[in-house]
Amino acid sequence: MAYDTLQFDVRDGVATITINRPDKLNALNDHVIAELSDAATRIAAVPEIRGAIITGAGTKAFAAGADIAELALQGPFDGKARALRGQAVLRQLETCGKPVVAAVNGFALGGGCELALACHLRIASETAKFGQPEVKLGIAPGYGGTQRLPRLVGKAIALQLILTGATIDAQEAHRIGLVNKVVPAASLIPETEALLRGILAMGPLAVRLALEAVERGLDMSLDEGLLLEANHFGLLAGTRDMKEGLTAFLEKRAPKFEGQ
Ligand code: COA
Repeated sequence: MAYDTLQFDVRDGVATITINRPDKLNALNDHVIAELSDAATRIAAVPEIRGAIITGAGTKAFAAGADIAELALQGPFDGKARALRGQAVLRQLETCGKPVVAAVNGFALGGGCELALACHLRIASETAKFGQPEVKLGIAPGYGGTQRLPRLVGKAIALQLILTGATIDAQEAHRIGLVNKVVPAASLIPETEALLRGILAMGPLAVRLALEAVERGLDMSLDEGLLLEANHFGLLAGTRDMKEGLTAFLEKRAPKFEGQ
């Protein structure tokens, strides 16, 4: 299926979603959000897709936030509905069962930063900039920023970013743990793809359950999370992949995982 606001390419198991409104700095209007939802459904459902990269078209922006022209028209109830729709799409990506990596190529502001936060890993180009500037507009983050940012960087730094609306550069984002790695702009996509392909070479069932344990476990008590982890550990012990991974180690050869 072709999209109006996204490019969706699949190559050798990796889907690359490119938000494609460069003239509006890839702002996330309702159409982008609806198409992102469809793309997230495809990533989860299509077996040939084993992982995904999300990036923005052009050199300037990953996504400069929700579309301010649309926000300007909203009232309380459609505002709430918009936030719930955006949150649901980001949650869909976060829980799709496959690794999703953000390749942040420029401004990741507001909803753009929140989209990056919902990805499992974030690689930033040296030119990337991050921030939650909503308070400057008299609104607050609505696509999960108040929840995921403190979970990722801690409450004090999250509040500093959210309450001041400050924009930070890629190095600062790396220093506070908001991004995993900063790379030159020219190597952003190759480095992101190399990272993802490295993950895809691991046992796919193990990756899936590790993702699930971290994503779900963070919202559980320690005891519940530990039980989830032990259940996953036991579940993996029944897979051919575990047998193959351990046998390959003992036989000093590379494993051949089948996802079984
Ligand atoms: N929503 C809608 N349109 C946006 C947008 C957004 N979040 N961010 C940028 N745009 C549009 C601009 O209106 C402009 O459109 P135009 O050419 O039709 O006038 C175009 O993208 C280019 O943006 P511009 O502001 O001219 O670029 P800049 O280099 O001067 O500034 C930013 C870049 C990112 C600093 C600035 O665009 C900005 O502050 N954007 C809003 C960021 C924000 O508050 N996001 C949170 C929203 S909740």
